[in-house]
Amino acid sequence: MTPPLFLLRPLENFAQFFLWGVGVLDEGLVLRVLGMGVEERAALFGVLSHEERLWLMRALEGFAGNPWARFESDPVGFVERGLGESLWSRQREILEAVRDNKRVAVPACHAPGKTHLAARMVAWWISCHPPGTAQVVTTATTFRQVRNLLWVQIRRLHSKHKLPGETSQVEWKIGSDICGYGFSAPAWDETAVQGVHAPHLLIVVDEAGGISNKLGQSFEALMTGGHTRLVVIGNPPVDIEDSWFERACSSPLYKVLPISAFDTPNFTGETTDLCRSCPPEVQPHNVSTHLVDKEWVDEVVHEFGLDSPFTIARVHAKFPRAAPNKVIPMQWAESAQENDRPASGDEIRLGVDVAADGGDELVIARADGYRVKLVHTSSGLANASAVDVAAKVLEAINEAELIALGRSHKHRVTVKVDGIGVGWGVVGLLQQWGKEGRHRSAIINVNVSRSARSQKFKNQRAEMWWNARQLLMPDPENDNAQQLRLDVDRRTIAQLSSPLYSGDSAGRIVIESKREIKRRSGVSPDRAEAILLAIYEPPGGIVGDAIVPIVIDQTNPWDLSAA
Ligand SMILES: Nc1ncnc2c1ncn2[C@@H]1O[C@H](COP(=O)(O)OP(=O)(O)O)[C@@H](O)[C@H]1O
Ligand SMILES: [Mg+2]
Repeated sequence: MTPPLFLLRPLENFAQFFLWGVGVLDEGLVLRVLGMGVEERAALFGVLSHEERLWLMRALEGFAGNPWARFESDPVGFVERGLGESLWSRQREILEAVRDNKRVAVPACHAPGKTHLAARMVAWWISCHPPGTAQVVTTATTFRQVRNLLWVQIRRLHSKHKLPGETSQVEWKIGSDICGYGFSAPAWDETAVQGVHAPHLLIVVDEAGGISNKLGQSFEALMTGGHTRLVVIGNPPVDIEDSWFERACSSPLYKVLPISAFDTPNFTGETTDLCRSCPPEVQPHNVSTHLVDKEWVDEVVHEFGLDSPFTIARVHAKFPRAAPNKVIPMQWAESAQENDRPASGDEIRLGVDVAADGGDELVIARADGYRVKLVHTSSGLANASAVDVAAKVLEAINEAELIALGRSHKHRVTVKVDGIGVGWGVVGLLQQWGKEGRHRSAIINVNVSRSARSQKFKNQRAEMWWNARQLLMPDPENDNAQQLRLDVDRRTIAQLSSPLYSGDSAGRIVIESKREIKRRSGVSPDRAEAILLAIYEPPGGIVGDAIVPIVIDQTNPWDLSAA
């Protein structure tokens, strides 16, 4: 029997798409087939191959039984009516832009609800398309962001709303089909997404600031298929210039929807609905209580300055013109805050940056293996007295010795003190107190203006900063692993990422002096230098039986290809 003529046209299309291997199944066709009488349907199946028939049947069955299918072209409806959640205006706009545009870029400030929205987008895509036809790929700069931020939300949505299929750590399966997954590809690995295709393909890049060019381009290469969407979301990177994200945000191929802090409800006065995403036990509150607010912006402006790169990126959502020669890009320092796989080691080492004048801080940092934190910060006149400062350091030493004792360490705790100015007196006192039996740690006077161990560096200060750079530099061959974990506050992160380096006439690496940094950025990097001292081993500074690892990398420091 010949099928009625009106059926043939979509059928031709369907068969053609199928043969292309793209497998685009037009939902209009599915709905029409669902509405057909028995005879009509039999006629249609009569002209399909066995494989095509199986495929269509599966799509029909899934689609017919799927209560979410009605939101297929209504992502806002999916979230607001389907999930019963609230959105603020820009979140609605973004969802609609993703429905209507192949490529969408959202350069945004801190906490306007980017990741929150990305999770809903993923749920919409997978739930509302016929099973077996949708595919979502998600990524972010680090795997921790993928697993601990985006996918936590996806899994929560999936279980709360009984969405189709099953989710595990970073994967969503329907039957045996993996219809969504998260990954973070090492910077150079463009093969990570090669060969991904599906009738409906959604790629979500959260925290896009650190995505490499190669990976970004391989996403773009996937955009050739029929119904494909690429959504690129994130904070503009503070100090990486010419990132793939920045290029996407200035490309005419992308629909770009920027969100500055001043566009968000707490600034515009937009009234938001009650939050319906928190658990019911939580007191009723509006969505806006979760979003970036004036207090946060004021703090950032106060801490970093109105036109600092941090403020430009995190508040205004603009791409700062970064200094090209940062010793430690902010991205590295920030991702070390979430590093759950630091290098192994359990030595206890202290670093002491002594306040040089009333304005600076006395800071004591403690490294436990490769996990570092601040154990003391104070400022004020008291820090001008060597005795008072030494007493504070002694407290930190006693605490550190208790930890080492608990681990039955044979070697001593090392305490590295910046011995310039007041520090000189502090070192003398601490060494004296050691002889008197008040502690048994190795007190090391570090004079950072002395010659470094390696001739590549102008002085120990340069070597010390470069050491930290090596320990924080992500290893692209090992999923961007870093050796150091930093349990520190935002101010410390900002200080770590402030110095610039240059070369002197002898080709050695020079790091900006504290004074230059203070003049340029308004802050003295005391917290950063206490950390650096804790993890740095100065040449010839090793006293007694202290066992100290040497971590200076001997590769060519000018080779910045990994940066
Ligand atoms: N529409 C919303 N309803 C309820 N909570 C929201 C909404 N949008 C964002 N949030 C919450 O606001 C906080 C910040 O959002 P998030 O997506 O993490 O911000 P970012 O833009 O930094 O990724 C999170 O706790 C998130 O769950
Ligand atoms: Mg986020």
